Amino acid sequence: MAYYDKIAAKWHKVTGYKGGSFKELILNERIISKVGIIASKSILEIGIGNGYFMPMLLRRKSGQVPGTIFLTDVSKKNLEIARKNFKLRNAIYQRLDLYDKFIVSDSSMDLVLSTMVFNEVSDVGLENGFKEIKRVLKNGGQFVVSVLHPEFIQKQMERGVVKDNMMTSKDGMKIPSVERKLDAYLRCLELLELEFELEAVFGNKKLFNMKPKLKEIAETPIAMIYYSK
Ligand SMILES: C[S@@+](CC[C@H](N)C(=O)[O-])C[C@H]1O[C@@H](n2cnc3c(N)ncnc32)[C@H](O)[C@@H]1O
Repeated sequence: MAYYDKIAAKWHKVTGYKGGSFKELILNERIISKVGIIASKSILEIGIGNGYFMPMLLRRKSGQVPGTIFLTDVSKKNLEIARKNFKLRNAIYQRLDLYDKFIVSDSSMDLVLSTMVFNEVSDVGLENGFKEIKRVLKNGGQFVVSVLHPEFIQKQMERGVVKDNMMTSKDGMKIPSVERKLDAYLRCLELLELEFELEAVFGNKKLFNMKPKLKEIAETPIAMIYYSK
């Protein structure tokens, strides 16, 4: 059983329809701004959680109809929740594990997306995931991946919020948050043999008003987006 099978209902309640405050206020827009044209494109999203993101992306790119959309997660429960609450008629919902061969064929995807998933898996999952992204991306395809920033996880370890690679949220939910150096991500990115950009994502005033404890570490980036154009 995948870890999120146990917490999926709570995760859905906390993330809701916009992904929770950090994503709603900051990250969603930053990710969407990186995504190129999606009309007629084949899209793979890895680790969809409750599935809020793809409908949001499609609304923001309205008028552009993608070719194929694969919405995937290792947790069957998350896939059920996504189907129930954010069902996209033309999408294929399927289980995918970053440790295994992806369910899509070689050079078949124009866009691979993943938000806050790679920071939950071990180095083995990270490396396999990147090798698989390389395998499934078409020549000229784009990837947009975000993770919790390694510096953020480090800071939260120092503050006791992350222990044994698990972060405890305000509502007591435990989320996997693996300690890792930025270099480990960079080594995997090199496997893609693609030019990429890195963007550190910080909190803002609105977020700090809602989550005052984060203000104490305002200088630390919360997330990192790496993407190709
Ligand atoms: C922090 S949640 C993020 C969910 C969603 N992307 C979002 O931003 O709200 C991490 C997600 O990654 C999925 N996940 C964890 N390990 C995975 C793996 N090995 N393969 C695929 N998905 C995985 C979890 O089931 C969960 O849905």
